[in-house]
Amino acid sequence: MSDFQLTRTLDENAAEKALRTDVRGGLTGSPKKLPPKWFYDALGSELFEDITRLPEYYPTRAEREILLERAREIATESGARTLVELGSGSSEKTRHLIEAMPALETYIPVDVSESALRGAADTLLAEHPGLKVHALVADFTRPLRLPDSPGPRLVVFLGGTIGNLLPPERAAFLASVRAMLSPGDALLMGTDLVKDEAVLVAAYDDAQGVTAEFNKNVLAVIDRELGADFHTAEFTHVAVWNKEHEWIEMRLRARSEAVVKIRALDMVVPFRAGEEILTEISAKFRQEGVRKELASAGLELTRWWTDSEGRFALSLSVAEDPVG
Ligand code: SAH
Ligand code: TRP
Repeated sequence: MSDFQLTRTLDENAAEKALRTDVRGGLTGSPKKLPPKWFYDALGSELFEDITRLPEYYPTRAEREILLERAREIATESGARTLVELGSGSSEKTRHLIEAMPALETYIPVDVSESALRGAADTLLAEHPGLKVHALVADFTRPLRLPDSPGPRLVVFLGGTIGNLLPPERAAFLASVRAMLSPGDALLMGTDLVKDEAVLVAAYDDAQGVTAEFNKNVLAVIDRELGADFHTAEFTHVAVWNKEHEWIEMRLRARSEAVVKIRALDMVVPFRAGEEILTEISAKFRQEGVRKELASAGLELTRWWTDSEGRFALSLSVAEDPVG
């Protein structure tokens, strides 16, 4: 007996329409860019799981270390009966938190990847048959309507995914999270920290080429969904550290001049040799920056924990008292 529900807030049509709009807009302008959520079809979600196990990709291990060490503290402090997770993916690390939360009744994982949500729920329900899991296929950058569930609530946003949003998108996102919180609720957020450039670049350009494959998957998604003829072999994966903005830029670079047809958009996209598409940023943070961005959204940072090597941080924050 298990208690599982899945709600799709994006029907197939809406998703396809959003993809068309994003691809048309992103590949018409200069520089060319594509929004990161389209990486995550079933294959993309699996490739991301492979990334989390790479020797160079330290964020998952660092964040897991903090969660294992602090799970009890987080659970006691929040006393949450509902756990909401944005961009939950496989929910792998979240399990450490769930195991430490005796009051927990309902888990609401939110992700654009339905396959990831179903896989995560299967694993979780096998371990916690009493837990209610209400999965939401939704875009967390859009207004969210959460299912009714008992408070207090803990909202978690792990993996450093906040860093995949541009600063104005982060501001809008944090304000929408703030609006989800009632008194007694809290936000637990993972942020990767600024560190040595070589360590950062290796994490996004691994020796086995898994990250390259993941990055190129966005082209495969467009080929399949929109009848395009990107040949992924014609593009190379590039990861560069942008020192000014303190973020990693993931790009796809055309090996040679090319003209790509996108049938569903009735569009041709010319590429110069060496021309790049920006597919994702992954911003790295410092404590003061995180505190400020939270404060701008009406959230007060109350706890800050890092792993033993100071590579990654988890922060806990609450809605600021509107009167004070
Ligand atoms: N939280 C997991 C996964 C991080 S990868 C971890 O820490 O390992 C980022 C996850 O966010 C993926 O599962 C992806 O499908 C999801 N995602 C990316 N953009 C999204 C969006 N706009 N709305 C909802 N989910 C999104
Ligand atoms: N949230 C992850 C991060 O910024 C996503 C990610 C990891 C990623 N590796 C990637 C995105 C490679 C694009 C390409 O670390």
